[in-house]
Amino acid sequence: MRAVVYPPELEAHWLAVAGEETKSLSDRDTLRRMLPDIQRLADRFTLDRPGDSEATALYLRDTRDCAAYSLYFAPQTYARLTHILAELPPFPVPGAAPLRILDLGCGTGAASWAMLDYLGPRPVVLDARDHSRAALRTMHDLFTAQKSARWPQAQLRTRCAPLEDYLPEPASADVILIHYVLNELPPASRRELLSRAARALAPGGRMIIAEPLLRAAGDYLRDLRAFALAELKLHILAPCPHEQACPLAEPCHDVRTWVLPRSLQIVNATLRRDLRYLAFAPLVLSHEPAEKSDTLRVRVVGSPTHAKGQTLCPACCPDGQMRRLQLLHRDFDAAGRKELRRLERGQVLQLAGYRPLGDPSLYRATPGHAQNLKD
Ligand SMILES: C[S@@+](CC[C@H](N)C(=O)[O-])C[C@H]1O[C@@H](n2cnc3c(N)ncnc32)[C@H](O)[C@@H]1O
Repeated sequence: MRAVVYPPELEAHWLAVAGEETKSLSDRDTLRRMLPDIQRLADRFTLDRPGDSEATALYLRDTRDCAAYSLYFAPQTYARLTHILAELPPFPVPGAAPLRILDLGCGTGAASWAMLDYLGPRPVVLDARDHSRAALRTMHDLFTAQKSARWPQAQLRTRCAPLEDYLPEPASADVILIHYVLNELPPASRRELLSRAARALAPGGRMIIAEPLLRAAGDYLRDLRAFALAELKLHILAPCPHEQACPLAEPCHDVRTWVLPRSLQIVNATLRRDLRYLAFAPLVLSHEPAEKSDTLRVRVVGSPTHAKGQTLCPACCPDGQMRRLQLLHRDFDAAGRKELRRLERGQVLQLAGYRPLGDPSLYRATPGHAQNLKD
């Protein structure tokens, strides 16, 4: 897929909010003054994660927190969601009724903005919930400022309340976003939120979950995946091309590249965090199974390696098995070969098939789309 770029209008909005908070004269001055706030929040989610007792404390307490959070995290959120959406089957053709989006733990709105941008100018009602009043206020401000140019047919409703109090109206949402929220809830509350979200999800709808790759927290998303399949009777649209037990020996995750916005490059010249790659765990659920396809969908679940004339990659396959695939460049056209060289962990490949080679762990894969086949 093409490089994911954070919209400059969203970046400019948060720079302006931060500029007002810090009474700065230029963007560089703003970023310099915001740096301690940004660093504190960046540390909170990486180097300095709070223990269970403080994990639920409010950290988006005022406009300044929200601006710091949004300058640093919103571009990453936007890029992650864009990657997830690109791997999903297309959304149903719009009907007359607005699409109902529910964003649980919306923060300052970054996941919702990626969703609205992806959907284009179709009527949408966005119901955004969080326990941070400041986050909801700044989200509303951004929406009001950008609506007419960006999302003219969208409406936003916000609700400030703990997610623990969320009472779902059955089948009331076509898209549910739960982005980087579950890890902030006590383990017992995660299943509860998932169950409530499943009740709110309308037939044909999608529940889009993403979580950070937190190895220290254990593989809680694997457990939630199993719970969603067995107890909630949901189906998986992504990332797995099957609904068997996960065959991976580690938490399933994507590792994706993206283009850092200029403001984040400036901030990171001081913070020096590794932001080149986005490592995250997606899970997209629905009441209906994924539509049958005439190709085999496999998911890249490790780093591809490239040798002369071929790409090798571990892939999760539709029968629930892991295989090491050999993709011969000569089977692909020029565009297909270019894609192969940029192949990333988490991407989905559409194949015509794969067959075992002499080495029992290696399978020769053939591309599934006519346009990728060599003439
Ligand atoms: C890491 S942020 C992610 C925000 C947003 N989903 C995004 O991706 O940009 C987690 C959000 O969940 C909210 N949150 C955490 N626990 C919550 C709870 N128990 N009730 C309501 N909101 C909660 C936080 O206030 C925060 O806005």
